[in-house]
Amino acid sequence: MKKILLTGALGQIGSELTTKLRHVYGSDNVIATDIRETDSAVVKNGPFEKLDVTDAEKMFDIAKKNNVDTIIHLAALLSATAEAKPLLAWNLNMGGLVNALETARELDCQFFTPSSIGAFGPSTPKDSTPQDTIMRPTTMYGVNKVSGELLSDYYFNKFGVDTRGLRFPGLISYETLPGGGTTDYAVEIYYEAIKNNRYTSYIGEGTHMDMMYMPDALNAIIDLMEADGSKLEHRNSFNVSAMSVAPEDIAKAIQVHQPEFTLNYEVDPVRQSIAESWPNAIDSSAAMKEWGFKAEFDLAKMTKDMLDTLKNK
Ligand code: SER
Repeated sequence: MKKILLTGALGQIGSELTTKLRHVYGSDNVIATDIRETDSAVVKNGPFEKLDVTDAEKMFDIAKKNNVDTIIHLAALLSATAEAKPLLAWNLNMGGLVNALETARELDCQFFTPSSIGAFGPSTPKDSTPQDTIMRPTTMYGVNKVSGELLSDYYFNKFGVDTRGLRFPGLISYETLPGGGTTDYAVEIYYEAIKNNRYTSYIGEGTHMDMMYMPDALNAIIDLMEADGSKLEHRNSFNVSAMSVAPEDIAKAIQVHQPEFTLNYEVDPVRQSIAESWPNAIDSSAAMKEWGFKAEFDLAKMTKDMLDTLKNK
């Protein structure tokens, strides 16, 4: 990675990844794009272009003009929004991806796009979900993610594009809020803990999902992209997780610092059924073995950092 193009750079991952990549690879070498333009650091502190990822020509032009050798394609709708607008999700998630892969093929770029625990479905083994297993998701988001993994493998096998990906769990961060995801509760709970010392969860008690703190997610992207390609048996995409938690587990971790914190439930049937179709806990051992994946933050360490940072915000 020497000159990097990001799509969806103002999203939850993009806003922090852009800053980190600019720090590591130099500001001028990280070209951020997004469908919106704001007055945020991503727009002000380095090259930025407005880009709708369904516009193939504009994406190609920006990549070519900037001589990029790496494309990190993040622009996508998350699971709950995709369920509400399935056709829009198909067009944006798949249309954007194929445009980004085509740009990578034509310009000979290394390529990264995130997959998700959402790529799994109800017939997938729920615990210690293996790297290679049944993938029959029942959500539009999951259909997009499995298709995206297969398409990325296809571009590697057919055209030799160096495609790599991670099946991210719910990502927890304090910089930019996620939007329209099923795992968003695990971010909101910290904001509400600081503001009101209570939270009403739309995900039910006992519902376990994998999660990861954003600093670990950013390191995982860079480590995978910098890994020796000859050591990779898998590419699209690696299971990665740092913890498997239910709402009450996060509440207990918050109560260590704020004993009065209370958690209530008002379950949203749509997001609950999406959550129930996903694994409880995935197995990240292939990522550990093939490129040394390791998460630094467990629930306790992440909770302390989230609460400390949000308090100062
Ligand atoms: N965080 C995502 C979502 O909930 C999962 O990849 O949609």
